[in-house]
Amino acid sequence: SSLTALNTLGLKAVARHILHLTEPAQIIQWRADPRFAQTTWLVLGGGSNVVMSECIEQTVIHVGLQGKRLLREDDAAWYVAAAGGEAWHPFVQWTLAQGWAGLENLSLIPGTVGAAPVQNIGAYGVEIKDVFEQLTAIHLQTGESRVFTLADCQFAYRDSVFKQAEAGQWLIVEVVFRLLKNYQVQTQYGDIERELLSLNLGCTPSAVAQAVINVRQRKLPDPAQIGNAGSYFKNPIVSPAIYQAVMAAHPNAVAYALEDGRYKLAAGWLIEQAGWKGRRLGPVGMYEKQALVLVNHGGATAADVLALERAVQADVLAQFGVELEAEPVKW
Ligand code: EPU
Repeated sequence: SSLTALNTLGLKAVARHILHLTEPAQIIQWRADPRFAQTTWLVLGGGSNVVMSECIEQTVIHVGLQGKRLLREDDAAWYVAAAGGEAWHPFVQWTLAQGWAGLENLSLIPGTVGAAPVQNIGAYGVEIKDVFEQLTAIHLQTGESRVFTLADCQFAYRDSVFKQAEAGQWLIVEVVFRLLKNYQVQTQYGDIERELLSLNLGCTPSAVAQAVINVRQRKLPDPAQIGNAGSYFKNPIVSPAIYQAVMAAHPNAVAYALEDGRYKLAAGWLIEQAGWKGRRLGPVGMYEKQALVLVNHGGATAADVLALERAVQADVLAQFGVELEAEPVKW
């Protein structure tokens, strides 16, 4: 069956088996089914962070688990649970409508609740790890159910244990968020601050959400219009030596100092300087309004995406001595 409509890059892809999961117990049933038992399983959420090859031999589990609720509440916080298959942005909107702040900076991020912890999604100064309480996952081989705490998840920039030691092992059934009652909106990010001022809606969580939505809609392509997977590369984290070399040669390079002494460089800036902003290679290209976003202009396959990935990496390495790491997983 076709996966083209199930990946936001819109790549042509077919899989031998696609199973739609609506109950966690189906995992155990499918494991006992000889058609699927011996194959490797891949977990698919919103398909917004994956580069799919044309023919996928593995069994694809499409997570359709639904449901969201207030789990409990104490003096400090609301603890809100959402099933892994819930679409992320509508979930954020629902929390705001309940009067619970904390997720507004993460508005309009594509994908599902269950995928959000895998790469520790983040935008405009907030990451999942900042609002995370715990999650429940099922082991794909054994069917074991396990709770992962904040420490268990080993969150880092666009990273977690689910991309490292435990990669490919777990299906995330439910995530619990801890939304603080005395929450202060995070508006220090320049683009958001400016948009908030021009909106003139005050500084409420809903106003911040609207500012984030506006900024994202201006810069980032809507996957329904033009295939993409958000930022295609991570912002590279470099040593002070590399940072100094880049700044010496390019005094206007965009960089942020990290607490551990290293620096994060703006990959979009590097890619733009390397001449790739708005430039195409075959049916794919780097987006004209945000050079960090790889877009499918129509009919692309994984091979087209990988060719552009390598071309951009080679040019940025040659020009700046910096290695770019692709963000999406590869199937
Ligand atoms: N820049 C350029 N040219 C470009 C793009 C960016 O010079 O073509 C410069 C900008 O001028 C700015 C800096 O790079 O000074 C940073 O740009 P931006 O604010 O757009 O953020 P980003 O670092 O490119 C990251 C995340 C985004 C997230 C934004 C806002 C990563 C890989 N990406 O992008 O996340 O929305 O910050 O917090 O960390 C995603 O992961 O899919 C994603 C969209």
